[in-house]
Amino acid sequence: MNIAIFASGRGTNFSAIAAAIKKGRIKVSLSLLVCDNPKAGVLLKAKSAKVEVFLVDRKSFSGKIDFENSIIEALKKHKIKLVVLAGFMRILSARFVRKYNGRIINIHPSLLPAFKGEEGIKDAFSYGVKVTGVTVHFVDVLMDHGPIILQQAVSIDERDTQKTLEEKIHRVEHTLYPRAIKLFCEGKLKVKGRKVSSGKQGFIR
Ligand code: GAR
Repeated sequence: MNIAIFASGRGTNFSAIAAAIKKGRIKVSLSLLVCDNPKAGVLLKAKSAKVEVFLVDRKSFSGKIDFENSIIEALKKHKIKLVVLAGFMRILSARFVRKYNGRIINIHPSLLPAFKGEEGIKDAFSYGVKVTGVTVHFVDVLMDHGPIILQQAVSIDERDTQKTLEEKIHRVEHTLYPRAIKLFCEGKLKVKGRKVSSGKQGFIR
């Protein structure tokens, strides 16, 4: 199965997923990186992992439809069966999401539905919650929303700073995302309405 990662930033999740594939923990081909930011650190990571890059600059397209059509063409060319959003800081249109319905997953650095948006870690830290975490979910037409595949809690203690919390969250992300991709690729995820179950493992909470 061919998968594509969409990313706009540093790409630590890209590297974690690429490493899990290289070690044979997930039996898929990481066929494409879709990136919308020419300055993103993930581009170098893709180069060293020898993953093909489709760099798309939104500004070179007159509208979102044309921009997304160029991405869809690239996905078709590479026969992509799963789109993995890993810090892709752009909202996909309802048209795109419906086209790939049930085949787009996202990672978010909080326990959704809490602290959606671009600053999930900072918002949780500033709020003063004692427990936050990481969510991997199927993507629907709303932002940071859709049936939840996996969640893992991360506690925040007195000594934590925003930086130490970020480190804890990223460590969890780097194991949780490969696990979720593995479940998908092994055909173990079943979506019923808003709930996701995974065969023999029962409901994932
Ligand atoms: C990750 O922490 C991911 O959860 C977050 O972007 C970061 C990307 O890091 N995504 C969101 O906030 C989505 N709303 P990375 O570029 O190092 O993988």
